[in-house]
Amino acid sequence: MDLRDEINRRRTFAIISHPDAGKTTLTEKLLLFGGAIRVAGAVKSNKIKKTATSDFMEIERQRGISVATSVMGFEYNGVKINILDTPGHKDFAEDTYRTLTAVDSVILVVDTAKGVEEQTRKLMEVCRMRNTPVIVFVNKMDREGIDPFDLCDEIEKELNINVRPLSWPINQGAKFKGVYNIYESSLNLFTPNQQEITETINFKDVTNPELDKIIGTDAIKLREDLSLVNGIYPEFSVEKYLAAEISPVFFGSALNNFGVQELLNCFIEIAPSPLPVKAIEREVNPYEEKFTGFVFKIHANMDPNHRDRIAFVKICSGIFQRNTNYHHVKIGKNFKFSTPTAFMADKKSIIDEAFPGDIVGIHDTGNFRIGDTLTEGEKIHFTGIPSFSPELFQYVVNADPMKTKQLTKGLDQLMDEGVAQLFTFDYNGRKVIGTVGALQFEVIQYRLLHEYGASCNYEGISLYKACWFSSKNKEQIDDFKKRKYQYIAKDKHGKDVFLADSPYILQNAQDNYPEINFQFKTEM
Ligand code: G4P
Repeated sequence: MDLRDEINRRRTFAIISHPDAGKTTLTEKLLLFGGAIRVAGAVKSNKIKKTATSDFMEIERQRGISVATSVMGFEYNGVKINILDTPGHKDFAEDTYRTLTAVDSVILVVDTAKGVEEQTRKLMEVCRMRNTPVIVFVNKMDREGIDPFDLCDEIEKELNINVRPLSWPINQGAKFKGVYNIYESSLNLFTPNQQEITETINFKDVTNPELDKIIGTDAIKLREDLSLVNGIYPEFSVEKYLAAEISPVFFGSALNNFGVQELLNCFIEIAPSPLPVKAIEREVNPYEEKFTGFVFKIHANMDPNHRDRIAFVKICSGIFQRNTNYHHVKIGKNFKFSTPTAFMADKKSIIDEAFPGDIVGIHDTGNFRIGDTLTEGEKIHFTGIPSFSPELFQYVVNADPMKTKQLTKGLDQLMDEGVAQLFTFDYNGRKVIGTVGALQFEVIQYRLLHEYGASCNYEGISLYKACWFSSKNKEQIDDFKKRKYQYIAKDKHGKDVFLADSPYILQNAQDNYPEINFQFKTEM
């Protein structure tokens, strides 16, 4: 198979959802279809359980386990599918945002009873920023939930996307009978069963009275619903889906393995194969012969005796080969990788080559950071990995002056991994750590001590948001920086940040400096 065929048969995507909507269950069912696992329950260990919120050691342990299932590759009907796992725990949301930069499409799972939830909104924001095509899977149809029309409305409104149902439920909850698959014109009837694939009846014409015999009085409602669906939603078009202008919606029950195969069959048909990736200098086409890739995730070894890490590289173009010299653009050095790993379901193995869309894990002794580009020599920089303003802030204070070097190195490396963000005030050099959740503060303290032998304490600082700012008007920037000097800091990449202590102060700054662009996010 040549490079072009290998690329065309790849689908690299992530399943995203608010915790508990059914992401893990759906992932598992997809792996079962691909024959990548034999029994249900095999990927459960990947999930950071809700009950562990206050126990960060347990979470770190689970994160350790999750390395193996960070990427789950499998073959299905000749298609190579790579599912990139995203942590459900909200304190690790940044990990998820970065992972979304390495996928070509997304399946969004929504719980029929709960509708659109908080985390779904934020994740979809990242998808919209990147124009990522999205398929929606409404899960748990075996439970009572929101009326499907209302739910579609809610998804459109809350997530700011246009939807097009490609399947439609026949009742729900205890009376759930199945779905009509609009995409394939078939009737899929539900039998509550955790493992088996349901039988499908081809059913092109729903006006056929045969339908009443099969599903009884529900046929009347289904006909009405379908004519309404066709009336209010636009025709489905693959082009519009690929342009992220329309999101197809499927209904089902992941736990009961219902609607999953229909989703998978449609997915492999319509989801994009690896797409061009933007670098600062130019757009890189996957079909280019020369290898390029970027690091989107770094995972530290959980064993403190081996402080090595795995850098996850998304292949953007060409063929990645083992034991070949590649150029690390940022530091200007060449590296060769003797043990690159690929991830297949619950195992990993050393590979000789990998293609665009694939993810390889490379052994890193501290040379890589998130966002780094690897090439055959060309000096390009992939961009678009987002960082959002943290929610929580604390001063970090060195608790052991004899270990200053270790603390600096430790903080530096933990920030490279994307555990949290570090800001340094311009006027006094004090360092502030910003995180998404309270948990990271404990994780940082623990890891600094156990992996670097450094101790730190935290001191409270009351901040509202970190705002990256820029303007073409140098005068305004200079004046703003002078007046607000005690709130101005640099992020890890040396970018200017305004650490606003209240929404009022921020609003004030925006009003007084209309030509300055303040943003709660930045890209590397
Ligand atoms: P997540 O990864 O999105 O956090 O969700 P996960 O798949 O773990 O599912 C959350 C809970 O919802 C699980 O129950 C799971 O069994 C259940 N679930 C998933 N899909 C369906 C479905 O289609 N119908 C119904 N009724 N339930 C579903 P749990 O009790 O929290 O966990 P467990 O004890 O089953 O592991």
